Formats: sequence, C-alpha cells, structure tokens
Amino acid sequence: MADFLQNVMDHAVAVARKAGEVVCSALSDERKIMTKSSAVDLVTQTDQRVEQLIIQSVKEKFPSHRFIGEESVAAGESCILTDEPTWIIDPIDGTTNFVHTWRWVWSTAVWRIKCSRPGGGRERSVTARLCRFLSRQLLSDIHQAIIATEFGSNRDLKAVDHIFFSLRNILTLPVHGVRGAGTAAVNMCLVALGCVEAYYEIGIHVWDIAAGLLIVSEAGGVLMDVTGGDVDLMSRRIVAANNKTIAEKVIEQIDPFTPPRDDAPPLDK
Ligand code: IPD
Repeated sequence: MADFLQNVMDHAVAVARKAGEVVCSALSDERKIMTKSSAVDLVTQTDQRVEQLIIQSVKEKFPSHRFIGEESVAAGESCILTDEPTWIIDPIDGTTNFVHTWRWVWSTAVWRIKCSRPGGGRERSVTARLCRFLSRQLLSDIHQAIIATEFGSNRDLKAVDHIFFSLRNILTLPVHGVRGAGTAAVNMCLVALGCVEAYYEIGIHVWDIAAGLLIVSEAGGVLMDVTGGDVDLMSRRIVAANNKTIAEKVIEQIDPFTPPRDDAPPLDK
C-alpha cells in the first residue's frame, strides 16, 4: 500500500508540475474567454486543455481511477464522490486571475482514496506533505488576525448581501485586515503557512477546496462548515483556520446561506 500511495503521490506531483508549465506558458497567449454559471464565472481553453492533460496522464497510469474535474462537470459530467479512488481536479484555480494575467494562478490535481475497513473508512492524502514541516506561530487573538475571503462569482443580490454582511461583521470586529488571493487553493495554502489566520467562503466548489483541505489539515489547521459543523465537501462552504478559537470567532460573524450543492441533480442547480 505504501508503495502504491508513493506512486500516486509521485504522479500527482509530476502531472501538477506539467500542468503548471502549460498554464504559465499560456499566460502570454491570446485567450478565448467563455462563461459558465454567470457572466463572471470564466473559463478558457487553457482550463479545458490542462484538465484533459491531467485526466489523460492519470488514466494511462491508473486506468481504474475516477475523476471529478471542474471543466468536465461544467460540460455535463456528474459530480458524485464514491469510495473509488478519485482525482478531484481544478485545472486553474484562479481563472479570473489567469484571464487578467494576475499571477496568483494555481493548478491543482488531487487524489483521494477511501480504504474501507469494518466499522469505518480511512482517508489518505497524498499531496499534502509539504506543510507538515513548516513551523508557524499561532495567533489566537482575532483582533490581530488577517482573514482571507473572496466574493466568488455569484452576483445574485441576496447572496451578495449575505457576503457583504459577513464582511462588514469581520471588518468591524475589528481585524488587522481582510485579503483575498483570488484562488481558494492559494488562500488555503496561506492559512497552512500561517500568513493569514483564516479563510472562509460560501460559493466555492469541491475542486476549489479539495487540495487545500488536505494541506490545511496536515499543517495542523482546523476545517469547519460556516455554521460550525463538519465540512461537507459538496456543500460549497468552508472555513479554514489556524486554530479552533479563530475558526469559531470567524464563524460567529458569518451570515450563512446555502448555494445549490455540487452533487445536486442538474435540475436543482
Ligand atoms: C474560483 C476561485 C475564487 C473563488 C471562486 C472559485 P476558479 O475558482 O477559487 O477564489 O472565489 O469561488 O470558483 O473558477 O478560478 O477555478
């Protein structure tokens, strides 16, 4: 099992590096910009190309594995997570940054496995080892914190009101600052690195946070739903924090809402 996981890990790292090279070299190309769920939910041919590159490469090496990919789901494939080994792929997390050549671009490929055992399952992460070695000074005073969040791509007035109300609550606590990298994956890495104390967002998708969940948890961080319960991968809501005190303070400020789930049947979305 250990050799197998190492093989998967090695392949994940290699294919993510290759994907990163393709994305970086496409930064100077002319981009054809298309939209998905809203006029500001952007996708380019590079997103689609990189996702296919990752899927093809993984299929050659691990033919039985499954995929949940942002652009494949946008093209109509299902977003159902089973117990089968599944790669959750966001080819470019931060597509808006990419379109505007704002260089916080993140290419993500994650493999996730559940090994069933009598009485329960076990999850192994294979991409999240980096942060284990980082030493962080943990801050538990929210008033000295920097909190990361994003506006996302939902421009529905009610949703925007919820987002602004939460932001207003956070800012007036007060906190030292609010930041957003423009990519959920990078925001979660910033939590793991201790550069920001917490990140929260409602409206992200499973492929935006899958890699970050592993990275934050292996760095010793805390992951919760915006109402304080466990994270539900498909619920499109996340709080990631350096520690529970900060997570709970952030959660107290959030005005929650419930976007359509990632695994909802197409008609409910
Ligand atoms: C987006 C980014 C962004 C977040 C959006 C995501 P994409 O992912 O992670 O930071 O605010 O909610 O959809 O579309 O660039 O892969």
